[in-house]
Amino acid sequence: MRNKYFYIQTFGCQMNVHDSEQIAALLAAEGYEQSSNMNIADLIILNTCSIREKAEQKVLSQLGRIEKLKKQNPGLIIGVGGCLAQHLGTKFHKKVRSLDFVFGTHSIHLLPDIIASIKAERKKITEIDFHKSLMSLNIFAEPSKDAISSFMTIMQGCNNFCSYCVVPYLRGPEISRPIKDILEETKKLADLGIREVTLLGQNVNSYGKNLNDGSNFTALIKKIAEISGIKRIRFTTSHPRDLSLELMNCFAEEEKLCRHIHLPVQSGSNRILSLMNRGYTIEEYIKKIDYLRKITPEISITSDIIVGFPGETEKDYQETIDMMEKIRFDSTFSFKYSERDGTAAKKLKEKVLEEEKLRRLEVLQELQNRHTLEKNTALEGSIQELLVEGRSKNSESDLMGRTSSWKIVNFKGESDLIGKMVNVKVLKAYLHSLRGKIESNQEMDNVN
Ligand code: 5AD
Ligand code: SF4
Repeated sequence: MRNKYFYIQTFGCQMNVHDSEQIAALLAAEGYEQSSNMNIADLIILNTCSIREKAEQKVLSQLGRIEKLKKQNPGLIIGVGGCLAQHLGTKFHKKVRSLDFVFGTHSIHLLPDIIASIKAERKKITEIDFHKSLMSLNIFAEPSKDAISSFMTIMQGCNNFCSYCVVPYLRGPEISRPIKDILEETKKLADLGIREVTLLGQNVNSYGKNLNDGSNFTALIKKIAEISGIKRIRFTTSHPRDLSLELMNCFAEEEKLCRHIHLPVQSGSNRILSLMNRGYTIEEYIKKIDYLRKITPEISITSDIIVGFPGETEKDYQETIDMMEKIRFDSTFSFKYSERDGTAAKKLKEKVLEEEKLRRLEVLQELQNRHTLEKNTALEGSIQELLVEGRSKNSESDLMGRTSSWKIVNFKGESDLIGKMVNVKVLKAYLHSLRGKIESNQEMDNVN
């Protein structure tokens, strides 16, 4: 019998990338082989995001292309999961007639049953209930054999209700995974060769709140750091309001915690921050950045910024620009505000024109590029410790690693360095990467 193939496409954030890894693990257990060619697939899954408008348009046009494949192969099964699936539910079937199933953010673990009943009955399925259990989070996605780095979901959902954001509605309330499960899974990953874990949650600072056993995020980091195979720990995302002194101090105290924090600021205007329901002022935000830089001067700081939130005046926008000039982020993800159904901000009246949003975004991104290059250039001549992740995308003879501060460095080296920590000298800075030259392989140094 011919192999069964599945094709999966992921839209959106790291959380979705990890969900797709879990989906792939479940499908592999069902005897499906992953293919990067959707034309030969027996099962196609789109793991969607609906945080911003563009993502939605992309999914619908991709489904348009996939529908044509079903005409040639009527046995093809098509499913959509993720936030957009959670949002649209059964409406998705009306929009895309050839869709077989829709599964929400809490229903990944149901996939084998869903697929089995479609094969048996060929009826349309929608599974979008919120399950209180953490069944979906506990699916173990075995890393590929050459993987060095892995995600680890430590909690799901969000209780923050920022006024522009759909996540609390689509991923449900915050629930943390028990520390025991996280540690067991991390040990398993370390035994399989993983050297770096990125702890995932919408608001990692709240980790442990619902567990009532005294667990908190800093304690979790320290416990993970005790696992010997794990050399580096990262996390995303931290909410500026909840970033505790204890967690900030952890950057200076815990060797394995990488010197990088992604701390979404969203705006530099207190008026807009308040309308966004962010729960901090820009002065409080800057105070935390100053403290982090005081205790770990090498830390890199990245952020998310939204332009054109309803009611954002030229003055508010200018305050965002001034804040960026003052802070000088290492990099930022910046977005035009996009109105989302069901959010509080949708009710705000003073919309900013689309072309004005675009102008604000372009000016802001140009400024950020200048800052990023400036930050990267400041590293020229320095020695950086890298975890070598694999071969570089740019050249066969190059390896690629990341600094603790999350910057990509390309350098000449042999494959046996993959997975090792090496020191490189930074020769040249670019906007998206650094060029380096190997100085030493630390693990060899330690042996000698
Ligand atoms: N419009 C624009 N950007 C948004 N984000 C979240 N919701 C919206 C929205 N409605 C951005 C925020 C968040 C990032 C993940 O996506 O900056 O930090
Ligand atoms: Fe959305 Fe705010 Fe929760 Fe982040 S913290 S997921 S922006 S509601």
